[in-house]
Formats: sequence, C-alpha cells, structure tokens
Amino acid sequence: MAAALLTLLLLLAPLVTFGGVRGELCLACHPRHGGGGERCSSCHRGNPATTRPTVAHAGLVRGRHLRYTLRGDPAAGQGELLVERYGCRRCHVIGGRGNRLAVTLDAVVRTRSSAALTAALDRPAAAMPDFRLDRAGIDLLLNALYAAGSRANPGGSPPQPVHFRSGAARERDPFSVRCGPCHRALTHEGGLLGTGSIGPNLSGLLSPFYPSGPSSPPWSPRRLTAWLRNPRSVRPWSTMGPVAVTPAEQRQIVTILSISPPHSELPGIHP
Ligand code: HEC
Ligand code: HEC
Ligand code: HEC
Ligand code: HEC
Repeated sequence: MAAALLTLLLLLAPLVTFGGVRGELCLACHPRHGGGGERCSSCHRGNPATTRPTVAHAGLVRGRHLRYTLRGDPAAGQGELLVERYGCRRCHVIGGRGNRLAVTLDAVVRTRSSAALTAALDRPAAAMPDFRLDRAGIDLLLNALYAAGSRANPGGSPPQPVHFRSGAARERDPFSVRCGPCHRALTHEGGLLGTGSIGPNLSGLLSPFYPSGPSSPPWSPRRLTAWLRNPRSVRPWSTMGPVAVTPAEQRQIVTILSISPPHSELPGIHP
C-alpha cells in the first residue's frame, strides 16, 4: 500500500510541480535556462504536455539552431552570407525575398524540426543542387532560415510553387538540347530541365536572386548573348566554349531562364 502510494506520488510529481505551475513537462527533465520566463516550446517547439521523451522531442528545434535568439550572436548573420553565396533565393523565398521556383522556406521552417531540415540539406531533393554542406554550414544556414521564418510574414502566398511539366515539350526545348548536357535549371515552364552538372545550376539566372560575384554585374539577356557567342569576352578565364544558338532559340532560352513577378517576391527594398 505504501509502495503504491509512493508510486502514485512519483507519477503525479511532475504534474503537480511542473504541469500545474509552469505547464511544461520539459522541466521534469531539463533545468530552466536563459533569463526570461519564456516557454521552452516557444523556442524549441516539441510537445510540453508529456514526459515521454520521444513524444516530447517530436518536431524539436535544437539549441544550436536557436543561436539567432541570443543577442549579438553571429550565427544567423553568417548563415545569411551562405544563403547569398549559394544563391538559395534563386529558388526559395527566404525572409520575404526570392523566387518561387521551390517551396517558400519562410512557411516551411515554421513546422519543420531541426532533424527534418538537416536531412533536407544533407540529402537534397532531386531538383535542388547538392551543395555538399558540412555540419557547421548546415547549422549556420538553419539559424538563418529559422530567424527569417520567425520574422517574415508568409501571408497569403502559397508555400508550394507550381511547376508546369509537359514531357513532350521538355525534350525539344532549346535549353534542354543546347545547355542541358552541362547545366540544369528549375523552371516554371518545364520543371527541372537539363541533366548536366559540369556547369553551374542556372535556375533563376535572369532574376535578381542569381548569385553573381561581387565584381560582376547581374545577368541580363544582353550579357547572356555575349556569353554564348564567346564566354571569354565576358570572363577571360571561362572554361565554357562558345555555343551556337539561333536567335529564336536564344529568345526561348531567355524566356525559360526568366522569372516573372507572380513567381518572385520583391518587396520595397528592391527596385
Ligand atoms: C523524460 C525526460 C525529458 C523530457 C520530458 C524532455 N526531455 Fe529533452 N532531453 C532529454 C534527454 C535525456 C536528452 C539528451 C538525450 C537526447 O538527445 O535524447 C534531451 C535532449 C534535449 C535537447 C537537446 C537535443 C539535441 O540533440 O541537441 C533539447 C533541445 C531538449 N531536450 C529540449 C526539450 C524540450 C523543449 C522538452 C519539452 C517540450 C523536452 N526536452 C522534454 C530528456 C527529456
Ligand atoms: C529564447 C529561446 C529559448 C528558450 C525559451 C529556451 N531555450 Fe533552450 N536553448 C536555446 C539556445 C539558444 C540554446 C543553445 C545555447 C548555446 O548553444 O549556447 C539552447 C540550448 C538548450 C539545450 C542544450 C542542448 C542543445 O540543444 O544545445 C537544452 C537541453 C535546452 N535548451 C532545453 C530547454 C528547455 C527545457 C527550455 C524551457 C525551460 C528551454 N530550453 C528554453 C534557446 C531557448
Ligand atoms: C535550383 C533550385 C534550388 C536551390 C538553388 C536551392 N533549393 Fe532548396 N529545394 C529545392 C527544391 C526543388 C526542393 C524540394 C521541395 C520543392 O519541390 O519545392 C527544395 C527543398 C529544400 C528544403 C526542404 C523543404 C521542406 O519542404 O522540408 C530546404 C530546407 C531547402 N531546400 C533549403 C535550401 C537552402 C538553404 C538552399 C541554399 C543553400 C537551397 N535550398 C537552394 C530547390 C532549390
Ligand atoms: C559543354 C558544356 C556546356 C554547354 C553545352 C553549355 N555550358 Fe554554360 N557553362 C559550362 C561550364 C563548364 C561553365 C562554367 C564556366 C565558367 O564559370 O567560366 C558554364 C557557365 C555558364 C554560365 C555562367 C554562370 C555563372 O554563374 O557564372 C552561363 C550563364 C551559362 N554557362 C549559360 C549557358 C547556356 C544558356 C547554355 C546553352 C545555350 C550553355 N551554358 C551551354 C559548360 C557548358
């Protein structure tokens, strides 16, 4: 009888001490940290209504991906530099800016755990380039993505992009034929075009979000024309040879690599 009572008390203890007062059973196993009285789940998510660790930790955001919440911590800023360098906004809306060729990350990160986002960067989807990121790079990027998601207002825009795939047209489009052996591009017109990877992924080339080096101007149809005629007239050390395209093919390629306004987010700070 005494043993049963003791067991009952032990079972109820977390509810009384933590559930009743603080409402978060995380505190049954973890100490409180950080100054403010914020709820654990407001930063880490998880399920605060249980003491079963697997359930409590479902959807967890790890501490090292929450460094953006620490005042003066450089992680999110360094992650944002990686977002720029890898050109993630060629395809994703991040912090309210970017093309809508792939899911809007501001919306996605609100429900994705650290584990799910880490896996998405470790083993990218077929239409996403593999940046071969290391652990440190992934951690910085996730700080930037979670920080952006916590600030941005994904509003009424749908998180899922629309790809219009038509298999027959895909084989014949001039990008697939002329550029596809060496390049890939995610496009609204035809989904993922091209199969090559010896040249860069050209998704969103003619949009403001394609990464161009600090000293080179953004890509324009005119610059692309000069490039195809002779890449070394644009970049003296280029390893791409000239590609012969007819004016009609050139126009189609420009259309394929352009992104029109409903497919991108360009708030006030951009002209
Ligand atoms: C039954 C005890 C228990 C409960 C309840 C519990 N945790 Fe944990 N938690 C642990 C243990 C043990 C570890 C370390 C081992 C592991 O990673 O599973 C851990 C690890 C963690 C980590 C580090 C994960 C990592 O890999 O970096 C975080 C963050 C965390 N818990 C947050 C929470 C939050 C938030 C809650 C409530 C929603 C919670 N925990 C509820 C026992 C618990
Ligand atoms: C304001 C956001 C915030 C709140 C609220 C918060 N944490 Fe954290 N937590 C962090 C940050 C940031 C770190 C990482 C600190 C570091 O790496 O130096 C962290 C680290 C941890 C760790 C260490 C393991 C890891 O993942 O690095 C655990 C466990 C943890 N928190 C549990 C909790 C629990 C339990 C609560 C509620 C009592 C809580 N946290 C509330 C932001 C928060
Ligand atoms: C060429 C386009 C492209 C680029 C560039 C790109 N991604 Fe992706 N990404 C995708 C596609 C496609 C998916 C799969 C989901 C979809 O179809 O929208 C995806 C998925 C993701 C997911 C998983 C989303 C989910 O639903 O869980 C994350 C996280 C992500 N990308 C982050 C990044 C980051 C960070 C960068 C820059 C380092 C980046 N992506 C660059 C195309 C791209
Ligand atoms: C035989 C392979 C090959 C073909 C075919 C090819 N390219 Fe390239 N392309 C490359 C390589 C390799 C690079 C990287 C060279 C460099 O950066 O100087 C490159 C670079 C580029 C760049 C510069 C991108 C950047 O970020 O700097 C553009 C733009 C480009 N190609 C457009 C095209 C277009 C459009 C076509 C089709 C009309 C095409 N390429 C066909 C191999 C190819």
